Amino acid sequence: MEPTRNRLIDLLETYDHEYVSGQFLSEKLNISRSAIWKHMKELEKDGYFIEGVRRKGYRIVKSPDKVSENTLHWGLKTNWLGKNMIHKTTATSTQYVAHDAARENAEHGTVIVADEQTKGKGRMARVWHSTKHKGIWMSIILRPPILPAAATQLTLLTATALANAIAEGTTATPAIKWPNDIMINDKKTAGILTEMQAEQDRIHYVIVGIGLNVNHTRIEFPEGLHQKATSIKLETGIEHPTVPLIQQILQYFEHAYDQYMTAGFSPIKTKWESYGYKIGEKIRIRTKHNVFEAIFSGVAEDGALLAETEAEGVQKIYSAEVEW
Ligand code: BTN
Repeated sequence: MEPTRNRLIDLLETYDHEYVSGQFLSEKLNISRSAIWKHMKELEKDGYFIEGVRRKGYRIVKSPDKVSENTLHWGLKTNWLGKNMIHKTTATSTQYVAHDAARENAEHGTVIVADEQTKGKGRMARVWHSTKHKGIWMSIILRPPILPAAATQLTLLTATALANAIAEGTTATPAIKWPNDIMINDKKTAGILTEMQAEQDRIHYVIVGIGLNVNHTRIEFPEGLHQKATSIKLETGIEHPTVPLIQQILQYFEHAYDQYMTAGFSPIKTKWESYGYKIGEKIRIRTKHNVFEAIFSGVAEDGALLAETEAEGVQKIYSAEVEW
């Protein structure tokens, strides 16, 4: 968003629903009162409802839930994440948009958000249903100074940010199913797809794709998913605006990422396990060569699933289908 407009919104937000005089705003922003008025008109185009009263000033009556680069920037309390924001009303997949942008040197922390995806991608080449305005379909471009083998840790980190945002912004109780599905009441409400471009010992970029079902009703899911998938609205009975949820996810993500870069994976692992789905319970693990039952005892320092059996003790599992 235009920096002055961003600061203008910050000022109005600071005084919340009180009137702020044009004189005060013009002094603070060092622009004329007619320039203030023009900015107000632009904000209205983005869906803000700003009341202007003679001799009193301006106040925000209603902020929009319309997703746009502007509305996403307004009130976003991050230092680097989402400073470069790309919003698409429609995209095949935000992953494709992100790969193209990354190849053209988009900066670390670029965020791509779409209102709908026509070819949403899930893990293991599955389709990700991305109905218009019903969820958060978003990809983040990262250029982390880590080895390619550590990139899975970013997926687990993303899951903690999503769980934190859901726990804080809604009345739902999220759990993280290894490695990275977000469950509410035993049904999947969000998934994460991490893709990267790397050489053996160097990451060019990582794209973290987040799909979160927010306001779907039951019939807005394909029939085959009725037993497995859910949305925040279905579980809480409440419709949630997506802009504040996106902002919360980004804020938690940035915090977790910065923490990971300074303190390593250990605090992320602790957070992950605090949301861990069915830790301590029996699970069935299907690897390439084997199917066996084990107790899910948590995640390892490198993000692997820890499976405990009487015969083998605790084993690390990196890639498997897990039945819970
Ligand atoms: C999964 O299978 O659980 C991962 C789903 C990831 C979906 C998100 S939606 C935004 C981004 N764009 C995509 O096409 N996929 C990811």
